[in-house]
Amino acid sequence: MISVEGFTKTYGGFTAVDDVTFTARPGQVTGFLGPNGAGKTTTMRAMVGLTPASRGRITIGGHDYRAIPNPGRHVGVLLDASAQHAGRTGREILTLGAKTMGLPMSRVEEMLALVSLSESEAKRRLGKYSLGMKQRLGIAHALLGDPSVLILDEPANGLDPAGIRWMRSLLKSYADRGGTVLLSSHLLNEVELIADEMILIGQGRIVAQGDKKSLLAGQAASSLVTSLDNDALARALQAAGFAPEPAGEGIRVNCDTAAVGRAALDARVVLTDLREGTAGLEDLFLELTADTQREQPRPPAPQAQLTNGAQ
Ligand SMILES: Nc1ncnc2c1ncn2[C@@H]1O[C@H](COP(=O)(O)OP(=O)(O)OP(=O)(O)O)[C@@H](O)[C@H]1O
Ligand SMILES: [Mg+2]
Repeated sequence: MISVEGFTKTYGGFTAVDDVTFTARPGQVTGFLGPNGAGKTTTMRAMVGLTPASRGRITIGGHDYRAIPNPGRHVGVLLDASAQHAGRTGREILTLGAKTMGLPMSRVEEMLALVSLSESEAKRRLGKYSLGMKQRLGIAHALLGDPSVLILDEPANGLDPAGIRWMRSLLKSYADRGGTVLLSSHLLNEVELIADEMILIGQGRIVAQGDKKSLLAGQAASSLVTSLDNDALARALQAAGFAPEPAGEGIRVNCDTAAVGRAALDARVVLTDLREGTAGLEDLFLELTADTQREQPRPPAPQAQLTNGAQ
């Protein structure tokens, strides 16, 4: 288990991570989610002793990472897939890792096969790898020592859709076998599908944490409904004490779908569409990290200006 207690990191007068506390448990995938610059990499670097904490403590299985003998056998780390010697081939990088950890050389071939790096790719130098290939090699390196804890910073970066799906099932089955997985992303949909637990961070602070259900639990009920007689349905909903309002082709109302169904049944109105209208996890994520989102870039100069310029 990874335990982060009051972790704070300051650079001069700037606080990059502010009093962050959470745990990543065995048997679970924990998603560490936040916009660019939120403090994810800083926290993960501190987990593996690459950055000292300004305050607080991070332990893995109760130990400081630096105090773990042969750490690769216990903690698999992927922080920056390019942070390897560009002149070494993929196979050499894994071989060096295996030698350092005292593993049989067969492990190298196993890992190359696991991440689907072909024979010719394994012979290629890292400097000539594509982003996705580097990422695959990085995942192979992290898994080399068959660790019980995985710390992966944006592992899906550069992977194609099939690669992302492959990684998802790999990490899920790893956690199902009792492993602890902490994986960061700035993309909610990458994490949402596999994370049992999510830690949302914005501007160095945790803004929410929990499983998907509990994160969404605080949201007020809302439904979107369309029927063959929206006016009659709105009247029925009003009579039932709710506040329907027009929304697109139908009605948005502040109650759950069962209450809408009941009102429709009573009023004998045929429903053509009924769904939950609560903001999804993405809206919640954007709302909670709103202060830290960057502005949308301005669209390019309008056509009119270009035409004027050309005249
Ligand atoms: N060595 C450093 N010196 C000064 N500031 C730093 C240093 N390392 C990181 N920071 C700052 O700390 C903040 C958090 O950076 P971090 O890399 O942890 O963000 P992140 O959540 O990983 O973002 P991204 O999604 O873009 O990878 C940023 O504002 C960054 O500029
Ligand atoms: Mg980062």
